Amino acid sequence: MKNLKNDKTENLKIPNHVAIIMDGNGRWAKKRLMPRKIGHRAGAEKLRQVVRWCTDYNIKHLTVYAFSTENWQRSQDEVNSLMNLIVEFFGKYEDELRAEGVRLRFIGELSDLPEKSLEVVQRAERDSQERNRIILNIALSYGSRQEIVRACKLYGEALLNGTMTNDQLTIENFSDFFYAGDLPDPDLLIRPGGEQRISNFLLWQLSYTEMYFIDKLWPDFSKEDLYEALAEYSRRDRRYGDAR
Ligand code: FPP
Repeated sequence: MKNLKNDKTENLKIPNHVAIIMDGNGRWAKKRLMPRKIGHRAGAEKLRQVVRWCTDYNIKHLTVYAFSTENWQRSQDEVNSLMNLIVEFFGKYEDELRAEGVRLRFIGELSDLPEKSLEVVQRAERDSQERNRIILNIALSYGSRQEIVRACKLYGEALLNGTMTNDQLTIENFSDFFYAGDLPDPDLLIRPGGEQRISNFLLWQLSYTEMYFIDKLWPDFSKEDLYEALAEYSRRDRRYGDAR
């Protein structure tokens, strides 16, 4: 495995799907007396590194919370800088993401995005669909409660137009109505930044996910921190409610 020669990887159980709440960019910038947008920029650079580390570990799905439905309430300046950062990021790192085999998918109310950002994310998704080393799912204008209500509405439409009957609905096929219905449930959720909450992220999908909270702010998250999260995950006994 490249770049991991010195890591103790022998006993690691590698999760198929890791989800991350990239929290703490604002505080990281504040500590340095810099504007919040500089923290988001550092957060985006961290994401770039973490994608590489995840491919080193052969993690197949990485889902990150980049912008929540609630984040629209932040100052116009902060919202604009995040939207611009997204445009800039996919322009700047297009070649790198291609070379690393990163397939991009976006979940959330993408129609809320400004035209330019929407265009860029749709293109990034389209152009990367043949890649398969890792799937990077980016949640943008995403809220999990909103996703569940939207799924209920889509299910209601399926009932009304006769493509489904009520007794055909199951736990498995309900998620077909989600933004990415085929997304496997995350095995491990990592939240840096010191808060221990889910913040409206993947509520349905996290039902049996192992949670890992770390005080470090997202831009300070290191490869060793990822290793520690994976090591802790490997020690957990996942019983899914069974008594074994
Ligand atoms: C939460 O930290 C973080 C966000 C609201 C934005 C996360 C976005 C990125 C890391 C950039 C993503 C970029 C791309 C290209 C997908 P916070 O600002 O709420 O931190 P705080 O709790 O310290 O204030």
